[in-house]
Amino acid sequence: MELLWGSLLLVAACVPAAQGWPEDHVKDADLDMPQPLHLVEEGNLKVLTAAGLTQMLNQTRFLMVLFHNPSSKQSRKLAKELGKAVEIVGKNKNGVGFGRVDITVEKELCKEFDIEKAPELKLFFEGNRTEPINCEGVVEAAALVVWLRRQISQKAFLFTDTEQVAEFVKTRPLVIIGFFQDLEEEAAELFFDVIKDFPELTFGVMSISNAFGRFHVILDSVLVFSKGNIVNRQELINDSTNKNVLNQVIKPHLTGFVIEYNTENKGLIYELQVMNHMLLFASKRARSFAMIMQHYKLAVKEFQNKVCEGTILLWGSWMGSRDL
Ligand SMILES: *[C@@H]1O[C@H](CO)[C@@H](O)[C@H](O)[C@H]1NC(C)=O
Ligand SMILES: *[C@@H]1O[C@H](CO)[C@@H](O)[C@H](O)[C@H]1NC(C)=O
Ligand SMILES: *[C@@H]1O[C@H](CO)[C@@H](O)[C@H](O)[C@H]1NC(C)=O
Repeated sequence: MELLWGSLLLVAACVPAAQGWPEDHVKDADLDMPQPLHLVEEGNLKVLTAAGLTQMLNQTRFLMVLFHNPSSKQSRKLAKELGKAVEIVGKNKNGVGFGRVDITVEKELCKEFDIEKAPELKLFFEGNRTEPINCEGVVEAAALVVWLRRQISQKAFLFTDTEQVAEFVKTRPLVIIGFFQDLEEEAAELFFDVIKDFPELTFGVMSISNAFGRFHVILDSVLVFSKGNIVNRQELINDSTNKNVLNQVIKPHLTGFVIEYNTENKGLIYELQVMNHMLLFASKRARSFAMIMQHYKLAVKEFQNKVCEGTILLWGSWMGSRDL
């Protein structure tokens, strides 16, 4: 508990006193919040019960779940490959999660998802449990990653009507939409290719001819909407620089998340030119870890676009021999 408040204090330290720290608000939210479950991880996959699956669905935009039977050799092999796929995608990458369900134990889940044989691999999108996407015939780690990235890219929302866009962007904190002359040409293909690495963000595409001049888009462009307002627009008019432009438009929006500070991500700090970082050290193996992260993320929400502009909240995992 001490550590928990320590982390919130750490965040609070950057708020000028006059600004008013929304402390009461955070505490109220805290009281209402159910305690998160501590999910055990084996071979990079969270071991999921019915409650664990519900929790993960709530927290993860893309959730890959392996329904497996521990006594089947094929299941064990796929679990191992999926574990390797996690390493390739990046452990604790925001927006994507990996779990497994033991079909010999979780009978209710088998019934709900109509699991008759193991292994079965399913991808859930935005917490929707009614129609997960089946991943069939893919058995090798690198191929699983290719499959997953393609799904992420295909989940860009395709708009055909500007009213639809206006409604959609109002309901989401952040949406990045590519407008293209031709959705099958080079610039659009590049857009789909780039966004597959950003499962945490919401993307859409629209053909310029369908926009009828709304949003003032004439040339291939990418527009960023925040709560319904256009906050950035960039034209994609030079094949040799489009990729850079897209990355420059997209990456700054990763700062709204808590990012694990690890060898893979540490470069991001410099890339985003973030001046202030706050680093929380926490042991992933501690039972209180899920709760600490829940509070830390809550703190991010409170500060986003308010006080610490350009601040990135990070967490480092501490894999010492002793748990906290
Ligand atoms: C997750 O749970 C919280 C609180 O229990 C709820 O407010 C939120 O809408 C849920 N999010 C999703 C994506 O289901
Ligand atoms: C879940 O997905 C199905 C199929 O795509 C859709 O019909 C349904 O409305 C979705 N449910 C929610 C709550 O979004
Ligand atoms: C495209 O960008 C490259 C690299 O910056 C530049 O050399 C080239 O002149 C640009 N082309 C056009 C048509 O602007």
